[in-house]
Amino acid sequence: MRAVVLVGGLGTRLRPLTTDLPKQMLPILDRPMIEHVVGHLATHGIDEVVLSLGFLPGAFLDAYPDGRCAGVPLTYAVEPEPLDTAGAIRFAAEDAGIEETFLVLNGDVLTDLAVDELILFHRASGAEATVSLTPVDDPSRYGVVPTDADGRVTGFIEKPPADEAPCNWINAGTYVLEPSVLQRIPPGRRVSVEREVFPAMADAGTLFGFRSECYWVDTGTPETYLDVQLDLMDGVRGPARSGVDDAAEVHTGAMVRRSVIGPGAVVAEGARVCDSVVMAGSNIGEGAVVDGSLVGRDASIGSDAQVLGFSVVGHGAVVAVGERLDGDRRPEQD
Ligand code: GDD
Ligand code: MG
Repeated sequence: MRAVVLVGGLGTRLRPLTTDLPKQMLPILDRPMIEHVVGHLATHGIDEVVLSLGFLPGAFLDAYPDGRCAGVPLTYAVEPEPLDTAGAIRFAAEDAGIEETFLVLNGDVLTDLAVDELILFHRASGAEATVSLTPVDDPSRYGVVPTDADGRVTGFIEKPPADEAPCNWINAGTYVLEPSVLQRIPPGRRVSVEREVFPAMADAGTLFGFRSECYWVDTGTPETYLDVQLDLMDGVRGPARSGVDDAAEVHTGAMVRRSVIGPGAVVAEGARVCDSVVMAGSNIGEGAVVDGSLVGRDASIGSDAQVLGFSVVGHGAVVAVGERLDGDRRPEQD
């Protein structure tokens, strides 16, 4: 089966890390996010991936010049302008000549979903499309998807106010689609699969939901982008892994706990890095503290500076000696 992976979003919630790098090219531990996503598909028999690109497509083309990612052949569908999720699906499917049942993924989700079971469920129900579902505590950030006892979707409510969500099962961002779904997407304009296409299919009774309680995180915010990496280090998904790259330099008098330190990054004497991500080539100065925060590539945190509380420091950005960031972004975002 072929899979269309949506990676064309702007990644606004992760800015400034995503100002000049697509969200799915940010590292998760030691590899770009997209390699985790495609690698998971490879273990479930997906034999070709169509990357649906819009924003900064060159980053993917440069990273996978031979057209393979995590061992899977890639093709690229580059939208002339952002078409939103359904517009992107139609554009990519037509570009790749897909005329059979296919898979679609939000490219920013890390999950252990049994994709093969999702496909079996889809075929057994005779659905026109099947959406994977996961339970969450706060459904208001997601597409909320009530189903009946057979799994038929009875409504699709994208990002409802917190007190109006009819259940806590949400769209987990992996879909099996019959090619007929493409005819439901008006061509050549922005169309949202969550706000237009799936609600219409719920009304028509042709959309099914597949509930799964396996590991699932949408990595699109600083908190969740950090969480997935803490989970890998803590052994929540398989054996615990170290976040400190072999080519990182952590001085003996520095303290690093539950953190990713990328290749070429330096943590100087007396510095403390906890529950954080420090990307390749960055420098954490003497006595500096980085706690619960994200530091992009080639950034510089001055001596005795503090970077705290889900602060996000962009690639190449500088935090001055003794400066304190707490829940801030550098450079500042609107
Ligand atoms: N090609 C292309 N073009 N891709 C796009 C576009 C576009 O115009 N807009 C968004 N994407 C991609 C993003 O890069 C991402 O991989 C995926 O589509 C979903 O977009 P997000 O911006 O991450 O959406 P979300 O997290 O707010 O909500 C979506 O995901 C939730 C689960 O993670 C929705 O599908 C929700 O219903 C769902 O619950
Ligand atoms: Mg998302």
